[in-house]
Amino acid sequence: NFPKNVSIKEVGPRDGLQNESEMVPTDAKIEWINMLSDSGTSYIEISSFVHPDWIPQLKDATEVAKKIKRNPNVTYAALVPNNTGLERALEVNIDEVCLFLSASQTHNKKNINKTIEETYPILESVSTESKRANKAIRGYVSTVFGCPYEGEIDTNKVIMICDNLYTMGVDEISIGDTIGVANPAQVARVLEQLLRYFPKEKLAMHFHNTRGTALANVLVAMNYGITKFDSAVGGLGGCPYAKGASGNLATDDLLYMLHRMGIITGIDENNIIDAALYIENYVKNLSSHQMKILKSER
Ligand code: HMG
Ligand code: MG
Repeated sequence: NFPKNVSIKEVGPRDGLQNESEMVPTDAKIEWINMLSDSGTSYIEISSFVHPDWIPQLKDATEVAKKIKRNPNVTYAALVPNNTGLERALEVNIDEVCLFLSASQTHNKKNINKTIEETYPILESVSTESKRANKAIRGYVSTVFGCPYEGEIDTNKVIMICDNLYTMGVDEISIGDTIGVANPAQVARVLEQLLRYFPKEKLAMHFHNTRGTALANVLVAMNYGITKFDSAVGGLGGCPYAKGASGNLATDDLLYMLHRMGIITGIDENNIIDAALYIENYVKNLSSHQMKILKSER
């Protein structure tokens, strides 16, 4: 009962690098994104147009966006928190605008300095302006499966937030397990609820692999007909404003599993490994299983 094709959204240059203690040099980011662009991927989240003091690791978003070589088969996306961010994103002609908020009031406050209610009009305005500029819009809902400050999150809250985002005109929503606490039974429960209201084509899953459950969660989500997953090369990633958040599901591990299940992604595993090896020169140890195997073989 698995899909024939899965679409992977590479979030390494954004979610991956935002959680690194050191900033990766801009030229290295550009070279790395160019490698990813040639991997067969159809989507790369290249950076964030957030406040540079909040995420200093991504303060070079404009330069990165301007200098990468754009592959016409790839959608280049970035996080945008407000209209100031949108102005910066439009200046470099980003393809897709990614809005974000949290299902947890406390995490939302810590992450974007606003309550959930205060966030809506800001996102609505970004959404309106993005549509006017003919941009695709993605929405992220964070801490869906648990929050480091509030614990379990009521899925009805998530449904409300998704409903508001879709009403604003968001094309797709990525359901985030920000701190990697989700388990497969919980993924099934949450998806059963969400799919009562929203079509599966408009949902993506964003798993972090903090506790090693991400691939199991992908499997369950695929059984519910979800075909879009976010992942980061080498298992980089995490949100600096969510205590305990660590690596995203690794693109290389996800590809290993999907390809051997006969599921098509269009991405070349070797190119992704090359990209992982390249970025490893600049970041702390990569956590993916594929990277560990490679290292033990060398
Ligand atoms: P704030 O301080 O409340 O902002 O921060 P403000 O609107 O009050 O503005 C204050 C000053 O910041 C003003 O300048 C603005 O112009 C400036 P002043 O007038 O004082 O000179 N400013 C900006 N400058 C550049 N770019 C901007 C911008 N906005 C305002 N976009 C804000 C609010 C949202 C900006 C801040 O809290 C922020 O940048 N937060 C970013 C946090 C973040 O990026 N977190 C990680 C991403 S989320 C995540 O990882 C989860 C995810 O992966 C899914 C999952 O795993 O579940 C997506
Ligand atoms: Mg994330």
